[in-house]
Parts: sequence; structure tokens; C-alpha cells
Amino acid sequence: MKGIYTALVASAITGAFAAPSPIEQGPITARAAAAACATPVTLSGNPFASRTIYANKEYSKEVVAAASAISDSSLAAKALKVADVGTFLWIDTMARISVVEENLKDVGCNQIAALVIYDLPGRDCAAKASNGELAVGDIATYKSQYIDPIVAIFKKYPNTAIALVIEPDSLPNLVTNSDKQACKDSATGYKDGVAYALKSLNLPNIAMYIDAGHGGWLGWNDNLKPGAKGLADVYKAAGSPKQVRGVATNVAGWNAYDLSPGEFSKATDAQWNKAQNEKLYVSLFSPELKSAGMPSQAIIDTGRNAVTGLRKEWGDWCNVNGAGFGVRPTGSTGNTLVDAFVWVKPGGESDGTSDTGATRYDSYCGKEDAFKPAPEAGTWNQEYFEMLVKNAKPSF
Ligand code: GLC
Repeated sequence: MKGIYTALVASAITGAFAAPSPIEQGPITARAAAAACATPVTLSGNPFASRTIYANKEYSKEVVAAASAISDSSLAAKALKVADVGTFLWIDTMARISVVEENLKDVGCNQIAALVIYDLPGRDCAAKASNGELAVGDIATYKSQYIDPIVAIFKKYPNTAIALVIEPDSLPNLVTNSDKQACKDSATGYKDGVAYALKSLNLPNIAMYIDAGHGGWLGWNDNLKPGAKGLADVYKAAGSPKQVRGVATNVAGWNAYDLSPGEFSKATDAQWNKAQNEKLYVSLFSPELKSAGMPSQAIIDTGRNAVTGLRKEWGDWCNVNGAGFGVRPTGSTGNTLVDAFVWVKPGGESDGTSDTGATRYDSYCGKEDAFKPAPEAGTWNQEYFEMLVKNAKPSF
């Protein structure tokens, strides 16, 4: 995922808040099934306040396999701990729906399942790396064969708390990349699709966060209002669903939370963007959402933002070289606007292939600051994963 943004930012986790403790659930290999809730869950308020994110089996499996392939035993031990971190499970194809249930079954009452809804027609309109399976115009399939079956599964698990990130990059792309033909063509389907998703997934045990790009994207002075309006219009078109909590920022991104001055604050265009880190972005974007008529809580992806100063340009989004795992998921953020720091992008899965001959090759994945070689988006990159472990802050 990740489109082209007009600009910049980044920050690091400074001493402003103490590093939250990792979500430990015991070694993955010996994990006992946690007890599910006995009664239906109704989410209101911060759903992460009293729950840890469920470490889904799909990512855990990838990590356990990766750790066992590491010969350096101290690095392997650190790597294995990543398997216990709760991350988001991306339902990035219709076929992927098949793993949802076996994960939901396993979620304890003190946990929350976390998933990403990501299969819009004409997906990733401003880039190539994450182009999806549904063609522009195929909104009927999106609704009946993607969203509806997911809703049917969720309805079987009313006693399970679920957090969703809704369609990364889609609405932000309509705000800043509407000059691109593919985004123009996708616009109706994105709006219709996201509204349908919000409306259909509006169940009491679900909390939804609509993707809002990051500070270097909708954070530009000129993008804040149109960005908030773009999201709020779709939210309202969906009938203002109660279970929407707000937005997800920095999804699969690299910006630091509160590095000050921000990573790109010395760039020549920095004067046009006050959202120089994600904390600032949320503080600027949240009031705009509110006045546009939308709930404005945020969750922020800190999965890969431990190291700053790596990107040549703020908009560089593909497999940034030198990155490290960031602050562990936690609902204690010390910021009333931020429900949680989360790991949305499963670190180790590629952002896009570096193979220049591939159909989904995007030139961003060939840039100087991108790690190479890299496999297709979503597939495992062992070397990259090891780098994230080595550079993790806090360390494992
Ligand atoms: C990318 C891929 C998608 C994958 C996700 C998480 O967006 O396109 O297939 O699930 O990253 O790694």
C-alpha cells in the first residue's frame, strides 16, 4: 500500500512517554487458548483501554518460521518475541476471509481482534505495488463477496471485541491524487465501497477507524480541511455509524510519533506543513474532523517507526531501509486524542517488489532509500524482518 503524498514528516519516540510494556502472552508455541467473554461485547469509549491486541496466528506463524531460520541464537530469541505482539490481520483478498474465523475463535475476553479491511475495486490507485484483485467498477463483488461474508462471520462472534482499520490510502488518495486517472476512475467505487463497509460493519462489538494517511499526506495546511471533509462525507453517507471511533494514521508508515523538531522540518516546503510528527498531525486533524461532523479519535501505527532520518523524501513509502520495530501496541498513550499505538503493518511483510519486470513494480520500491531485493507486497522478506528486529526501539 501507499500512494504518493505531496510531502513530508516524521518523528521519533522521545522521552515524553515511557515505553509501554510489550504485550506478552507467553511463548507462541505454548500459548493456551484464552477464555472468551461470556456475554456480548458492546464497545464504547477507547476499546484498547482495557484490552490487549490479539496476536493473530497468521503473523505469529510467519514470525516463528522466520525466527527458526536465524542462526544467531540471541537474535533468534529476540525475533521469536515478535510472535507475541498483537498486530492487524489484513483481509487483502476474498480468499483471505477464510482465516478470519479460526483467529476470532481464539480471542480472549481481555483481548481485541484487529483486522484491516482492504480490497476496494481499483485498490492503490496512486501506486502499483498493492493493486488488488477487483477491477474499477466491480463494486458489486466488493459488497457481496467481500464485505457481506466478513460481516456474516463477525455476527457469529458477538462476544468478541474487534477493531478495524478501513481501507488504507483510499480516501486520502481521493483528496490528493485526484489528478491521476486511476484515482479519478476509482473515486465513486471508493466512496461507495467505504460507506458500505462502515454501514455493514457497524456492529456493537466492533470499533472502526478510517484510514487518514499521515502527517506528510493530509497534514499539509491545504490538505487538512479537504481531508477531513473527504472522510466525513463518506462517514455521513454511511449514516454516521455509531461504531466509527475516528481514524488510523501512519498505517504502514514511517513517521515518528513525537520527534521534535520533526524529521522533515528543515525541508524547503516545511513551512506549509505544521504536522511534522504524528502527534502534531492528530492534534491538527482531529479538530477538523470534529467540525466536519466526524468522530475524531486516532490510532497510530508505530510498527516500523523506530529509526528516523532514513527517507530521502517524506513521501518515500516502500520498504524503507534501516527501519526498526517501534513502540509496542498499547492503549496507554498519554494522549486523550490517541486511543492506541498499534502495529497495523505486519513488519517483515513487504510493501512492494523491487523486481523492475514485475507487473506491480512501483518505482518507489526501486528508490535509493528502499531495501532491495524485496518480494511482492504482503509477502515475507526475511532480511528485512531481521533488520527490524535488530533496530527495534525499545529493543526486544
Ligand atoms: C500490502 C499488500 C497486502 C498486505 C499488506 C500487509 O498492502 O498489498 O497484500 O496484506 O501490505 O502486509
